[in-house]
Amino acid sequence: MDRRRASQLLAGYRQFLLGRPTLSSHEQSISGSYSKLNTWRPCCMFRVSVGTPQASNYLNLGKTYATKQRSFGSAATDIPRNPAFSKLNADDISYFRTILGERNVVEDEDRLSAANVDWMRKYQGSSKLLLLPKSSQEVSKILHHCNSRKLAVVPQGGNTGLVGGSVPVHDEVIINLALMDKIISLDKINGILVCEAGCILENLSSFLENEGFIMPLDLGAKGSCQIGGNISTNAGGLRFVRYGSLHGTILGLEVVLANGTILDMLGTLRKDNTGYDLKHLFIGSEGSLGIVTKVSVLTPPKLMSTNLAFLACKEFTSCQKLLLEAKRALGEVLSAFEFMDSHSMDLVLSHLDGVRSPLSSSLYNFYILIETTGSDETYDKTKLEAFLLRSMEEGLILDGVVAQDINQSSSFWRIREGIAEASVKVGAVYKYDLSLPIDQFYGIVEEMRNRLGEAATVVGYGHLGDGNLHLNIMTTRYDSDILAQIEPYVYEWTSKHKGSISAEHGLGLMKANKIHYSKSPETVQLMVDIKKLWWLSINFKANEVLTKKSQKVVVKEAAAVTRAYY
Ligand code: MLT
Ligand code: ZN
Repeated sequence: MDRRRASQLLAGYRQFLLGRPTLSSHEQSISGSYSKLNTWRPCCMFRVSVGTPQASNYLNLGKTYATKQRSFGSAATDIPRNPAFSKLNADDISYFRTILGERNVVEDEDRLSAANVDWMRKYQGSSKLLLLPKSSQEVSKILHHCNSRKLAVVPQGGNTGLVGGSVPVHDEVIINLALMDKIISLDKINGILVCEAGCILENLSSFLENEGFIMPLDLGAKGSCQIGGNISTNAGGLRFVRYGSLHGTILGLEVVLANGTILDMLGTLRKDNTGYDLKHLFIGSEGSLGIVTKVSVLTPPKLMSTNLAFLACKEFTSCQKLLLEAKRALGEVLSAFEFMDSHSMDLVLSHLDGVRSPLSSSLYNFYILIETTGSDETYDKTKLEAFLLRSMEEGLILDGVVAQDINQSSSFWRIREGIAEASVKVGAVYKYDLSLPIDQFYGIVEEMRNRLGEAATVVGYGHLGDGNLHLNIMTTRYDSDILAQIEPYVYEWTSKHKGSISAEHGLGLMKANKIHYSKSPETVQLMVDIKKLWWLSINFKANEVLTKKSQKVVVKEAAAVTRAYY
């Protein structure tokens, strides 16, 4: 693109910069609703489970399952109920009432039916009991009781997960941490926040913003998801490109193990090399080893200058180059680099009320959102504008706008964050969350589009800055022939290109038996061994304390329990 044309387009930016026409009332209402609490949001969340059949199958390879749990979706897992688990009885309910109080032992059918189904309405359990503990001690008592009675449990946070990890498979007791939502402390010099695991992500963000900090994690489900669930699935989200994984920003955890032991690893230190850093086992292990009850997070300072550009590109290769250039040119101020194709844009525009493209034409192939966050408004803006101008001159960008205020930013983000919500409006969604090498990032989207033709709508979007593609394939109704064309093809393709079949959503029930596409048999075997050892160890300790039986007998019993969980 020549300089004159680039300047003309930039003039478009400037028009935006200098006062884009005010938003329509519709747009204002969208942006107004953006940060409301407890709105139901799509998400990157979350699957946690302790001692449940689904936890067991998380590492159980080689089994094939029929599909029964879901009405549509992935070729997932139908796990027969493990007869080693007991059934709830009236004594259990009375015991839970004595420790939690009447109100927090929920048997009400309406409340249970909401807790039994996941956000995408694919996975349906049949739990008869929802427990709402208010403290780690209460969680401990619940788990101790369930473990000794061999009652299966499933922990649940905001229930915003996309892989069937936060809902029961059968009649598990649901443990929801919503009442454990206290902020415990904030070290205002180092930005270290300590809170309970049931805190809603958006509430933490609002609290921190008032104190001059931000959460290192931000995602579409922020209005509902809980930090404990975020940690259990190692959620990624929109700021990953800047602040990295929760493995880096979580400084400590308190976790309750299945036998009720409260494991205090709630450190607040940046550096601590005293032995194994066990908290990492709980980040991303989806509740298979314990329930996260408290959290210590390193939170970055809130920087005052944020800019957001919404850009259009013709080729996918331009998006790749733009990423490289953005990393080089924007460096330390780059805080998000998000991607969506024209099919994602069409989907949002046709299914979400009041959303419209900020660009005059809707004929572009790809869209990129670039956010910068820094401490010097003039410097940051100049840097971004110079980068945009150069990228236009080089032909990497065809068109674009820069948000002028918080309402405009919100309306841009609404487009990107609304894709999951728009997808479920079509009908059936076959959803894949893949990590891929950058040169292969969009290949699978094109392949699936060619493979499925008119039979399905295929959209590709995601966190290009982190190599994380979301591939949604939609049909009006679930169709097993379509599914057979998608799976195992998508998993095989991802494996062949050295990607991961679960970038940030977890394996959940959906991919419990697909782990081998991304991990070697030896690695999976070690995970199985770790989990066996874990269960053996905690049950050994419980039995040792409780029954004082001989070691031989205790080990035998513990092994039986372990088998039950597998
Ligand atoms: C996102 O990035 O929008 C979320 O992970 C949800 C999704 O996959 O649609
Ligand atoms: Zn995502």
